[in-house]
Amino acid sequence: MKIIDMNLKNNPYKVYIESGILDKACDYISSIYNKKNIYIITDNHVANIYLDRLIKILSAKYIVKSVIVPEGESSKSFNEYVNVLTKLLDLNMRRNEMLVALGGGVIGDLTGFVASTIYRGCPYVQIPTSLLAQMDSSIGGKTGIDFAERKNIIGAFKQPSLVLIDPYVLDSLENRQFSNGMAELIKHGIIGNASLFNKLLRKPCIDEDIISESLSVKQDAVLKDEFDTGERMRLNFGHTFGHVVELEKNLLHGEAVALGMLMALRFGEDLGITPKDIYPQVKSILESYNLPVEEIDYKKYLLKTLGDKKNLAGTVNFILIDKLGSSVIYPLTEDKIKEIINGR
Ligand code: GLY
Repeated sequence: MKIIDMNLKNNPYKVYIESGILDKACDYISSIYNKKNIYIITDNHVANIYLDRLIKILSAKYIVKSVIVPEGESSKSFNEYVNVLTKLLDLNMRRNEMLVALGGGVIGDLTGFVASTIYRGCPYVQIPTSLLAQMDSSIGGKTGIDFAERKNIIGAFKQPSLVLIDPYVLDSLENRQFSNGMAELIKHGIIGNASLFNKLLRKPCIDEDIISESLSVKQDAVLKDEFDTGERMRLNFGHTFGHVVELEKNLLHGEAVALGMLMALRFGEDLGITPKDIYPQVKSILESYNLPVEEIDYKKYLLKTLGDKKNLAGTVNFILIDKLGSSVIYPLTEDKIKEIINGR
């Protein structure tokens, strides 16, 4: 078992990574929550595989109720947010009762956003069932929904009270979903741990050790900067361009991040920051995990990055790579970006 200690000043919690931990969820949750009722939020796909099992496990100590939403990104919407709130209130959920997010990133983000607002906030536990959610969205407390065709544009920082990561659940993932999560794992190697990147080249089993090594990169960034105003922005490597192509090309998040990382590497090369030998190494590792690697001209997408939520009052902070395992935050004003687009 590995433990990542999210030792945040106001919101400390632990991330437990253990094969088979799903079956021990009741013990872990009861160590932090002693009320009677618990509410699981999940989607129809994950419900078919894990919901009955989790209800049975938690019923040892709790009255367990559940809300099921349709699977897929479309559930990160106002409609589904309102639907979940309505159902929880219909189920007589009371203030300070606990939610459990059982599912991938959509469920984690939606549940966290509900948890940040219902009764002005309630505790929630993350039990991520996709590699993408285990690698990224289940820790760090970024929650939210999509709006006006923009991803995660409405949300809140709301740290979970506990995260339980079970590598066994990865066995039930389809290949495309597995690759989807690998993009974030590879990203952690590129921005913060060259030795992890080199390990991934050898296609290791994604076990407790690899998950914990990868999450340590995220832990480090979140502990330094919970609210994403500085160090945490490094985790956005590949996301500024990625979010633009994700919606436009209808890709999975990790697939878009793969393309976004390649675009950011070319951008870094043109700015004289990224050494030219990194692109082929990243392209090759992405290809080996069946992620898309088509070369896209980043300049065509620079203008659209201005609409990203990473545009802070007219400045976009691009994350560039200066050597494998190390990143730099590179702020550019809207005017400078427009100059680059116009080739000046
Ligand atoms: N997914 C990037 C972050 O949590 O900051």
